[in-house]
Amino acid sequence: MTLDTPHGPDRSFLFVLGSSRADGNTEILARAAAAQLPADVSQRWVDLNELVLPDFQDGRHESPDRRPDETEELLRQATLAATDIVIASPLYWYSLSAQTKRYLDYWSGWLNVPDSDFKDRMAGRTLWGVTALAHAEHEVADGLVTALHHSAAYLRMRFGGVLTGTGSRPGRVRADTQAMARAKTFFQGETPLALFPYEEEADAAA
Ligand SMILES: Cc1cc2nc3c(=O)[nH]c(=O)nc-3n(C[C@H](O)[C@H](O)[C@H](O)COP(=O)(O)O)c2cc1C
Repeated sequence: MTLDTPHGPDRSFLFVLGSSRADGNTEILARAAAAQLPADVSQRWVDLNELVLPDFQDGRHESPDRRPDETEELLRQATLAATDIVIASPLYWYSLSAQTKRYLDYWSGWLNVPDSDFKDRMAGRTLWGVTALAHAEHEVADGLVTALHHSAAYLRMRFGGVLTGTGSRPGRVRADTQAMARAKTFFQGETPLALFPYEEEADAAA
C-alpha cells in the first residue's frame, strides 16, 4: 500500500455518512468533493443510518477477546481496507453526530481485538471530515474539527482537515457557493501527520 502519493491507484476512500436523515447537506457536500477524485481512486460509501449498530460497550478490560458482530465486522473491515477515511457528520450540538461518534467509539474496541494491530495499521492513513451546519460562521464547528484531528493524532494518522458548508434544509448547502467551490479541491489539500499540540510545541522547541 503506497501512501506517499496524494492520489493514485493504491488509494481507497471510505466515506462514513453519519446524518440522521437521507440525502442531507453533509452527504451532498461529501459527494461534491468525492466527484473530483480520480477514477482510479476507489470509493466506498457506508451510511451509518442504515446500519444497526448498538452503543459501544466498553468491555476492553473484561473480555479483550470479544468477537465483533456482523455489522461491526463490516465496519472494521471497511475501515482497515481504506487508505483514507472520511467522516461525513452533520454538526450536532457543535460536535459529531451520535452515529459517527459511536462508529469512532468502536475504534477503541478494535484497538483491543487480539492480533488486530489496529493502531499500527491505521498509522500513516489519512482522516478527513465533512460537515454541514446551520450556522454561517464555521468556526463554531471547531469542536468537531478538534475531535477528528486529535483522533488522527492518537492513531498517528494524517489529517486532511474538515470541509464545512452551511445549510439547514436538505439541499440548502448547494447555495453555499464558497463551500461548493472548496469541495472541488478539498481532497487535493495537504495531509500532514496529525500531532497533538504538545507534540508540535516540542517539535518547535527542538
Ligand atoms: C440534533 C441536531 C443538532 C444540531 N446542532 C447544530 C449545531 O450545534 N450547530 C449548527 O450550526 N447546526 C446544528 N444543527 C443543524 C444541522 O447541522 C444542519 O441542519 C445540517 O444541514 C444537517 O446536516 P444533514 O443535512 O447532512 O443532516 C443541528 C441539527 C440537529 C438535527
